[in-house]
Amino acid sequence: MTRPYVFITRKLKEELFAPLMEIADVKMWESESEAVPREMLLREAQKATALLTMLSDKVNEELLESAPNLKVVANLAVGYDNIDVKAASDRGVTVCNTPDVLTETTADLTLALMLATARRITESQEFVKEGRWQSWSPYLLAGADVHHKTIGIVGMGKIGQAVARRAMGFGMEILYHNRSRHIEAEQELGAAYRSFEQLLEQSDFVVCLTPLTDATRHLFNDDAFKRMKESAFLINVGRGQVVDEKALIAALHQNEIAGAGLDVFYEEPIGADHPLLHFPQVVTIPHIGSASVETRTMMIKLCQDNIVAVLQGNKAKTIVS
Ligand code: DGY
Repeated sequence: MTRPYVFITRKLKEELFAPLMEIADVKMWESESEAVPREMLLREAQKATALLTMLSDKVNEELLESAPNLKVVANLAVGYDNIDVKAASDRGVTVCNTPDVLTETTADLTLALMLATARRITESQEFVKEGRWQSWSPYLLAGADVHHKTIGIVGMGKIGQAVARRAMGFGMEILYHNRSRHIEAEQELGAAYRSFEQLLEQSDFVVCLTPLTDATRHLFNDDAFKRMKESAFLINVGRGQVVDEKALIAALHQNEIAGAGLDVFYEEPIGADHPLLHFPQVVTIPHIGSASVETRTMMIKLCQDNIVAVLQGNKAKTIVS
């Protein structure tokens, strides 16, 4: 009997894949940092029983159509907007993601980004590095307080709740907006439900953690920014396309909001000439929400467990539904 063939779309540590290598032939794309070229992904998918994909790989009709043996796609992310889940399930292909293992790490990063943006940390570091620090002065790089302010969390899933727990420690008032009410979060975290519009109008920090769907694309548009307080910050650790980037740029130009902390962008990666990089009040980081060594290792292992389960005829642990 021929062994299953697994293609991994990034160079990862081989020693992590011993269990998979026992039961399958495994090939990895040769680069750690660059996405696999589309033609190569399509070619590999034609032979593959399983794919371990990154969020930069599009798994769409075109790919699925030409992948007759494909049984499982394990995406190295909790988000799976890069995958046409319906087209996959119509063909009997299981799609898996990596929830839970990244919750706390992503919440840590969200707080870090919120603090860095409010307290002008990256701007301050550049100031020191450029030798511009002449003396201590009372309002030098003075930012905005975070403690005891109001945080508005858009998308109260597991990461949203982990952010809320951290915000409690800062004495913040916690508002949230979600597709449905989250009674447990209301009871345990004292989070108060608001309509999207109310949340925008009342929050000092609007934290976007919602997944990208047809319903959330461009949720943050001109109208949303006009509703926000002029002193408020947008923190986006969800998906770039939830924000209409042109509207954000206009809002920053017109001082409709105080600033933004962005881990995600409309098109990734962004180049050094991206207009958002010209605003000192915008902190930009390269989609590193879940990027701690511990968590990324757990995510990789979870992807492997899911692939092994499907190849052995079992149910995967974390199937996208
Ligand atoms: C995810 O898991 O969806 C994150 O965006 C990766 O950091």
